[in-house]
Amino acid sequence: MEKLELKYEGKAKRVYDTDEKEYFWVAYKDDATAFNGEKKGQIVDKGLVNNQLSALFFEELEKAGIPTHFVRLLSDRDMLVRRLDMIPLEVVVRNIVAGSLSKRLGVEEGFELSRPVVELYYKDDALGDPMVNESHVAAMGWASGETARKIQEMGLKVNSILQGILVKAGIQLIDFKLEFGIYEGKVYLGDEISPDTCRYWDIETREKLDKDRFRRDLGKVEEAYQEVYRRVKAVLS
Ligand code: TMP
Ligand code: ASP
Repeated sequence: MEKLELKYEGKAKRVYDTDEKEYFWVAYKDDATAFNGEKKGQIVDKGLVNNQLSALFFEELEKAGIPTHFVRLLSDRDMLVRRLDMIPLEVVVRNIVAGSLSKRLGVEEGFELSRPVVELYYKDDALGDPMVNESHVAAMGWASGETARKIQEMGLKVNSILQGILVKAGIQLIDFKLEFGIYEGKVYLGDEISPDTCRYWDIETREKLDKDRFRRDLGKVEEAYQEVYRRVKAVLS
């Protein structure tokens, strides 16, 4: 597999063409940003953890019937993925109140929701990814009504599968963000599933084991990423 032209550089990953038209080469970076790029830094070996942890999760999701863009690992920090036509939405699923929901509703972090909450955000850095609903999505033509419902349904299914894995690793899945795309007319899960895109708390101590340690300057950032990877790997091997 050959890495060709750089197609796109995001905050955490670079995406390259390959010699096979239907695949992209994704290279995970150690660069970290928060608050829409206002805060910048590096998390040593984040690229390695996020690449390999995402691969583990994608494999488990595939087994459980969720189509994902993941094809195979190419190196510690690189993976081969299907070239999706991305839907410009973020699907956030929440089990416990934290982050922006805590601020928006004035509810303390840690409040247990009586059922999972699904939210949609329109991906636009200049607008700061505004929250939208199904009717905005269909009216703006970002996705059909059917696809909008499908990605929310898939988000909830991913939630159950990830919770099942993480509980065995002593980790509570607080919330997470997914991105989807279309490939050969079908909806696929894309992007990554990592401590950058999820909130993980230790079940016993409620210690944060995710990017909030970087966002909020809590220290032991690298240790948290490594700890989640170590625990999940142990559960799945
Ligand atoms: P929020 O509480 O800031 O809305 O975040 C909800 C979840 O989505 C949390 O697990 C972090 C993740 N997330 C991203 O992956 N990318 C983003 O740009 C934001 C704002 C959140
Ligand atoms: N990744 C996003 C950014 O740079 C937000 C975040 O994860 O907090 O700004």
